[in-house]
Amino acid sequence: MTATTDRFAGKVAVVTGAASGIGAGITRRLVAEGARVVGGDIAADGLKALGDELGDAFAGVPTDVTVEDQVEHMVHVADKTWGALHVAFNVAGSARLGPVAELAENDWDYTVDLVLKGQFLSAKHEARLMRRDGGGAIVLISSLNAHVPMFGGSPYAAAKAGAEMLTKNAALELARHGIRVNAILPGLVDTPATAGFLAHPQLRADFIGRIPLGRPADTGDIAGPALYLASDDARYITGTSLVVDGGWEITGYPDLSKYL
Ligand SMILES: NC(=O)c1ccc[n+]([C@@H]2O[C@H](COP(=O)([O-])OP(=O)(O)OC[C@H]3O[C@@H](n4cnc5c(N)ncnc54)[C@H](O)[C@@H]3O)[C@@H](O)[C@H]2O)c1
Repeated sequence: MTATTDRFAGKVAVVTGAASGIGAGITRRLVAEGARVVGGDIAADGLKALGDELGDAFAGVPTDVTVEDQVEHMVHVADKTWGALHVAFNVAGSARLGPVAELAENDWDYTVDLVLKGQFLSAKHEARLMRRDGGGAIVLISSLNAHVPMFGGSPYAAAKAGAEMLTKNAALELARHGIRVNAILPGLVDTPATAGFLAHPQLRADFIGRIPLGRPADTGDIAGPALYLASDDARYITGTSLVVDGGWEITGYPDLSKYL
């Protein structure tokens, strides 16, 4: 059971990647806790469906986070509609995968642009608006792959590691403006992006074998920690990464429990 509060009453948020998965989960939780949310995503249909569900507290703005003009416009909709921007969650992401020796240059560029440049452009324009009003909080969604490599995942893992360092760098620069910047590193989350993996029984079992808590995350498992980092309870936290992976990262050793 998830406790809902009015922590975000009166707050205005931007969520990129809001149309699906983790971004939609964060958006629903923000609205449940009193926020008004501008959602940016390339998936206009998904934004429309979320708008129908959430009503006046949500404004969907079709946005490609790799295109600066569009990101700037998305952020300005928050200002124009509700007069401010207090918190932002940069979630949009996807990947084209392949081994280093085979990967096409344009697949590398697609992935790194989306996963890393998209985070930079979003943070840039969110920070400008927050700075004008004296502060705010930005949460970047990175990945456990910032720390743990995956076969065929070099552009994704390298860009997610870059997003983690971007978090620290932006936190250093923006603290003087009252803006906190933190990252969430999810492990395996059950979303449309991972549905193909999770539908495969052996692969699902292999994944779960790596996760001490014994299941993939649902989007609520990520939304809770993400909202915490944006909330006043985290007012002294900036430049940090919160790994939310059911313990996956600590399973670097064989299971010795049968031998001790
Ligand atoms: N699902 C996981 O296991 C997992 C684990 C770690 C990190 N993540 C990260 O979490 C984020 C969300 O992933 P998800 O699993 O919810 O995936 P998802 O596919 O359900 O949602 C991703 C959203 O990003 C949007 N998007 C893609 N390209 C875009 C662009 N150029 N501009 C704007 N929006 C764009 C998509 O339309 C989609 O709505 C991603 O950054 C992903 O890398 C996911």
